[in-house]
Amino acid sequence: MKILQVKHYDEMSQKAAELLIDRIRRSPGINLGLATGGTPVGLYAQMVNDHQKNHTSYRDVTTFNLDEYMGLSGEDPNSYRLFMDKHLFNHIDIQKSNTHVPIGDTDNPNQQCSDYENLIERHGGIDLQVLGIGSNGHIGFNEPGTSFHSETHIVELTPSTREANARYFNSLNEVPSHAISMGIASIMRSREIVLLVSGDAKRDALEHLLQGDVNESFPASILKTHPAVTIIADEAAIGKTL
Ligand code: F6R
Repeated sequence: MKILQVKHYDEMSQKAAELLIDRIRRSPGINLGLATGGTPVGLYAQMVNDHQKNHTSYRDVTTFNLDEYMGLSGEDPNSYRLFMDKHLFNHIDIQKSNTHVPIGDTDNPNQQCSDYENLIERHGGIDLQVLGIGSNGHIGFNEPGTSFHSETHIVELTPSTREANARYFNSLNEVPSHAISMGIASIMRSREIVLLVSGDAKRDALEHLLQGDVNESFPASILKTHPAVTIIADEAAIGKTL
C-alpha cells in the first residue's frame, strides 16, 4: 500500500481528484467504483469544479457504487443514488444510464445482488475503486466478520454503523437495518483502489489497518494484499501512526 500523507480534508480531496482525473483522461472509458458518505464529498466537488473549468469529460465513463440502503427508492433523500446525483452526476457530462447504484427498493434483493455482480463483470470489472473506511474497519457496508470471499450481498448494519449514519436521517429509527453492498471479493477485483481517510475519528481505524493483521474481523485489512492501493490520509487521521 502506498500512503500519501496530506495536511487536511481539502488537500485529501484535491489529491484524490488529481488521481481520478488523471486516470479518466488516460482512459476515457474507465469503469469507476464510487463511495458515498462524508469522506468523498470534497473529492466529488473537486471533480465538478475541474469539469467546469477544464472540461474533463465523463461521456464514456461508467460508474458502480459500492452500496445502497435496502428499502429506499432512488428518490429518497437518504438514498445513495440521490446522494450521487446531487454531489456528482448532475454536474458532469456523464450519461445517467452509465451510472449504477444497487436498487434498494427491489422486490427481490437476492436477485438484485447477483444482477449487480454480473453487471460489473459484464462491463469488464472496475478499473479504479474509491473507498472510505468505517471506524470499525468496514469497507462498503462489509461489517467485521464478513467473508473475504463475499460478493454483492445483503448486509445487516451494525449498531455503530447505523449510529454513525443517523446524522443524515431525522432519527436513528429511520436508518434502515439492511443494505445491499458489493462484497470484499468484488472490491478486491478492482484493478486499483484509492482509500480516503480523514479526521481523528478514523485514527484508530487507520492505525489498525497499518499495524494489524489481515483478518476478517477488520475488513479493510484485506487491502494489504491488493497490489495497487493508495491511501490518502490527512494529519488528523494519521496522528502518530506513521
Ligand atoms: C459508503 C461506504 C462506507 C463509507 C464509510 C465511511 O458508500 O461504503 O463504507 O465509506 O462508512 O463513511 P464516512 O465517509 O461518512 O465517514
